[in-house]
This record gives sequence, structure tokens and C-alpha cells, in this order.
Amino acid sequence: MGFCGRFFYLDHHDCHAASAFFISGYKQAAVLVVDGIGEFESTTFYKGEDIHLKKLKHFEYPHSLGFLWEKMSTYLGFSEYDAAKVMGLSSYGQPNVYKPHLEKLLHVEADGTFKIDDALVQFRNHNYEHLEAVFGVAKRDKLVDDINKETQKYADIAVALQIATEEIFIKLSLALKKEIGCENLCMAGGVTLNCVANGYLSYEQIFDNFYVQPAANDAGTAIGAAYLIWHQILAHPKKVVSKSPYLGPSYSDTEILTILEQHSLIFRHIDDIEAVVADMLVDGKIVAWFQGRMELGPRALGNRSLLADPRKTEIIELMNHKVKHRELFRPFCPSVLKEKARDWFELPEPLPEVTDYMLGAFRAKKDKAHLIPAVVHFDGTSRLQTVCRDTNPKFHQLLTEMEQRTGVPHLIHTHFKLNY
Ligand SMILES: [Fe+2]
Repeated sequence: MGFCGRFFYLDHHDCHAASAFFISGYKQAAVLVVDGIGEFESTTFYKGEDIHLKKLKHFEYPHSLGFLWEKMSTYLGFSEYDAAKVMGLSSYGQPNVYKPHLEKLLHVEADGTFKIDDALVQFRNHNYEHLEAVFGVAKRDKLVDDINKETQKYADIAVALQIATEEIFIKLSLALKKEIGCENLCMAGGVTLNCVANGYLSYEQIFDNFYVQPAANDAGTAIGAAYLIWHQILAHPKKVVSKSPYLGPSYSDTEILTILEQHSLIFRHIDDIEAVVADMLVDGKIVAWFQGRMELGPRALGNRSLLADPRKTEIIELMNHKVKHRELFRPFCPSVLKEKARDWFELPEPLPEVTDYMLGAFRAKKDKAHLIPAVVHFDGTSRLQTVCRDTNPKFHQLLTEMEQRTGVPHLIHTHFKLNY
């Protein structure tokens, strides 16, 4: 293609690990990568120290938690990319119904090492007859869109997988802690976007600090590749790195104006937009909030977000049916003023960084949950984003305006993208 520069061939998991460790700001950390597959590896342990990452141990295909989630997602009627939906569904499941069945496929050792029986799971093909025999449940051929007598069994299978994943995360973290003995954990790889498992891991407080890179899936490996070359190969020293997720494209006022005029849209310029939008939200409106640079990673974090008032559940029915067209069982997430988050949620100390990126589920306080019913899931947890003034001043101001009007420093918050 005409490129004459130097090429570097890098391992996929090295890139995942670098994307978390070199951004984390930790001088030393245990690094855990959990995904589908990279070269032959599915799960890899590293030790990060200054500008170096050292691989300690790995598990290989077919023992892949990422692939198991993909296969189980399709077995339960979703696409292979719908692990987040399976996780949402799992909240409605009865925990022990399918635990023994899952153990036939997935065997977890005391140190978190796991083995998957590919003869039963049948990765990378459309054969489900062994899974159907193990669980005694036919592959679902359409989406689970609600929880009822007919769909409950799929939620019961989903929760068995979710609990096993949490168990593996905790056991692997304990093993890493024992091996490395430092206070910091970094995680990357698609499976580490499982915010329910991340919440459990935070509560366990195995490590003092815990960082998940917001683009923990394969999208983030390009960042890791750049850092690997810069530090590990070219030996450049570390500098202070911004952890802001607002790294995507932005649009100037002129560009926005051009689009508005091209499409003959009605618009007006507003100076105190936070106050005006807060009034609209309190009035029951759904607002599409677009500002600045797009977020890195799969979550919207206040720059490409659909927003609504979280005090009433009617608004989420409207969002589900009219705007997002998504399954009724899926939770909506709150954004909350960072300085107020502890008043509303049971949060470990120090505040887990996963809350900056909406990557952890935490229990809502029992005496507060009824005030924000639209953003507390069936299991009593919320996948919250904490918002601080320094990283997103406009969104922080909007939440402040909401609190002044309602006493609730929260917003329902979801991604622009349809069917996401
Ligand atoms: Fe990956």
C-alpha cells in the first residue's frame, strides 16, 4: 500500500494489557486480560511496572470465556455480540436452577483456572444440539423481549453463566494478587465490560485500586498498540496520561449549523442550555444531548446521550417503545453527580474508577432507590456513571440543575444509537 515505515507485529493480548496499564497511571499493577481469543490466548496475566509489561501466564482456546458468552448469547436467542443483553437478562434468573448443567460445560478450579468442554459447547458453528441436551432447553429462535413463564428459563440459564463469570473474575484476581502482591489491578478484553461482574469485584476489594479501560473490547487495542511501541519497544518514559474518555470526533458550530440548515430543521441558540434542558426533562421530555468529542468505548458518557428524568418509570416505557426500541427487561443507567454518588449507592472506598465509565453495577441504597425507580434494575443495582465537573463541566451543570429542581442529582442516560 506504499507504506515504507517500520512495521511492528504485536500480540493481541499484549495490546489489550497495554491499553489498560499504560493509561491507568499506576506505577505497578497486576493486569488481567479476558476475551474471546488473541492468537491462541483467551485469558492472560501480566505484571505491569513502569514502562514494562511482563506476561506471566495464559490460558488457551478452547478455554475461552469470551467465546462461551458469544455461544450462549446465540443459544439464548440473541446475536453473538449481545453479551450485555444476556447480562441484563440474568438479573431475572433464579441462581441455582442451571448451575449443575453449566458445570458440565465450564469447570472452574479454586485458582480461577477454567476449562470449557468444546465438544459440548461447539464454538464457532451453528450446532446447538449438545447445549440443548445439557440444559434440556431448546435453542431460542427469537429475542427474549420480556420476562414471563415461557422466557424465565432463559433468564435462569443466563444467571448461571453470569455467576460463574463473577466467580472466575474473583478467583483470578485473588490468584493475581497472590502472585504479584501489588495494590492495583488493571483489566481489559471484551469480557471485562461485564459491569455486574466488575461491581462484585469492586465490592470484594481484593485490590485497593481497580481500573478497566473504557474501550476494553477490541476497539481499544489500537491504543494499546501505540503505547506498547512507545514504551516497551522505543523505551520512552511514561508521562501523565489523561483518562478522559472524550477522545472521539467533534463538530464545530459551523458544521452543525450547515447540517441544521441542509435538513431544514427548526433550531435556536440558547445561552443557558443546562437550565432550559433541565426544565424540559422535569416536564417529562426525552432530550438528545450532543456536545464536544464523542466518547471512547461502547458507553455514552454525556456527550452522545439520550436523557430523561429518572423519578418516574413511565418515561422508560416511552423510551423503550418510541425511541430505543429495545427489550423491556434491559436496565436504564443513571448518571449522577460524583460528589453525591455515595448518598445514593453503596460504594466501596476509594470510589471505584469503573464508575467514571459506567462499567460497574452497584447496589442502590434501600432508602433512596424508590426515588429513582427508572434507573434501579430488578436486582436493586444500578450501572451508574459518576460525573465530575473537571471532565464534563456542561453535563455536570445539567445534573446540578436537575438536583436544584427535583432534589435528585441523577438522569436516565442511554446511548443515541438505536437497537444498541
Ligand atoms: Fe480481544
